[in-house]
Amino acid sequence: MPQRTFSIIKPDAVRSGHTGAILAAIDQAGFRIVAIKKESISIRQAQGFYAVHKERPFFADLCAFMASGPLVLMVLEKDNAVADLRQLMGATNPANAEEGTIRKRFASSIQENAIHGSDGEDTAAFEIGYWFAGYELI
Ligand code: CMP
Repeated sequence: MPQRTFSIIKPDAVRSGHTGAILAAIDQAGFRIVAIKKESISIRQAQGFYAVHKERPFFADLCAFMASGPLVLMVLEKDNAVADLRQLMGATNPANAEEGTIRKRFASSIQENAIHGSDGEDTAAFEIGYWFAGYELI
């Protein structure tokens, strides 16, 4: 059974018109898009999503950024989806991201870094359940 992961095209990338190019990169890397929706989220929803980071100094800014405009929420599927998406994304800080990765191509800072991807299988299960209902994942 292929593995599932969760991803967000963040507000910076949506705002600057990179949604299509990022979806193309995801498609070309062999992911199946199980579910996808464009939404504007509240600060409260962002705080719940990033609750593991609530003690970090960047937490408030991060949540405000995620609520600053529309984003694209996705469930992606392929063999080794979690690790393969993280490789396709590149390092959290785009300054350290490898050539050709989504963050190298489209991210502008460590916070406004274009895309999110789950960092493990358990995290993916939490994140998928946080944003999608079971009936949306058929
Ligand atoms: P993401 O993969 O969505 O997970 C947590 C997010 O917090 C991360 O991407 C960045 O957007 C943000 N982040 C991580 N580290 C920092 C930092 N040092 N300063 C500001 N934002 C950060």
